Amino acid sequence: MLKLAHITKSFDLDGQQVSVLKDITLQVKPGEIVGLMGPSGSGKSTLLHIAGLLESPSSGRILIGGEETAGLSDSQKTELRSLKIGFIYQSHRLLPDFTALENVMLPQLIAGQSKQKTVKDATERLTRVGLAHRLNHRPTKLSGGEQQRVAIARALANNPLLLLADEPTGNLDSSTAESVFNLLLELVKYHAMGALIATHNPDLGAKMDRVIHLKDGCIVAK
Ligand SMILES: Nc1ncnc2c1ncn2[C@@H]1O[C@H](COP(=O)(O)OP(=O)(O)OP(=O)(O)O)[C@@H](O)[C@H]1O
Ligand SMILES: [Mg+2]
Repeated sequence: MLKLAHITKSFDLDGQQVSVLKDITLQVKPGEIVGLMGPSGSGKSTLLHIAGLLESPSSGRILIGGEETAGLSDSQKTELRSLKIGFIYQSHRLLPDFTALENVMLPQLIAGQSKQKTVKDATERLTRVGLAHRLNHRPTKLSGGEQQRVAIARALANNPLLLLADEPTGNLDSSTAESVFNLLLELVKYHAMGALIATHNPDLGAKMDRVIHLKDGCIVAK
């Protein structure tokens, strides 16, 4: 699903190169849920953005579903991302002027799916995350846990191969976090996706198939 080989990333800060990721090599297989843990600033979000083709590495290779991404144009990357990768952020990032249903429909509409099929699929997805009774609510009328469940339904809209999530339950209270997280894991397993999920929470880390620990931009033994 995902292969990262010898990824490095440096940022230029006032003329000084700051090295944030140093030679990261990892692989996520189909159906595998991999945790990404490490102190604040260790590079988790940067690595997820690179894996999701939202940011370019300074060097190294990224393969998504076996496909080499180095030679792709920006529009090809956008297309690959929209069809093969679901991304979930710590804050839901739903569009405030759209209902839950419309938010979940958007990725499929953008991918060119018919409105009729999109309504049917988005309704099914929201039903699966327990929100059949909230289809026409705008995000501000939903609880934090409900917002994050909509974000999960949206991330899965185009049946991606790979799910990337950056502290997806970091803003929720612990019991809501646990139930939303369990739902996320269940859906990832059900669809046999690969997932790479950053978390600070060791209890959530323990639920994953394995955990990669980052420290100062390097993979370390725990
Ligand atoms: N655009 C940027 N320009 C310069 N430095 C950056 C940029 N983005 C991230 N960094 C630096 O890269 C390092 C890693 O940041 P990153 O956000 O990946 O950490 P993280 O592990 O996700 O931390 P957290 O747990 O707090 O979310 C930090 O030191 C950060 O300051
Ligand atoms: Mg982060």
